[in-house]
Amino acid sequence: ADLSERLGAIIAAHRDREGPLLPILHDIQAEWGFIPDEAEPVIAAALGLTRAEIHGVVSFYHDFREKPAGRHVLRLCRAEACQSMGADALADQVRAALGIDFHETTRDGRLTLEPVFCLGLCACAPSAQMGARLLGRADLAKVQRLVAEAGA
Ligand code: FES
Repeated sequence: ADLSERLGAIIAAHRDREGPLLPILHDIQAEWGFIPDEAEPVIAAALGLTRAEIHGVVSFYHDFREKPAGRHVLRLCRAEACQSMGADALADQVRAALGIDFHETTRDGRLTLEPVFCLGLCACAPSAQMGARLLGRADLAKVQRLVAEAGA
């Protein structure tokens, strides 16, 4: 849909509630997969805030993406059970292997790395997810296989 039209509808749906900014941003992200730059001044004007204030909120919450995600999103669990089974070390290895940090996308646009907080696979921690596929007892080799099999 046309950005300004959809944006107007999203803003109108929330502007009269208390604390409209986060629900507006969530809806925008659901619609476009990220918060387009052009949306920020429009939201700012509608809510009587500055663009810098909007941008501050967008960059503060890691839920909001400032750029479109890659074609595939790899999620590594960072919650407690996985942490206790070496999730941090695994994350370091995966970041080094992919050359990207969390919330970043490989330069070819294929893969975005995101943290996730519990995939319900605590019994076989550490865990990872890519699309519909879940991975338990993850290690670098398994994660790389998952990425390769997804064509990412
Ligand atoms: Fe990682 Fe539950 S803590 S799957």
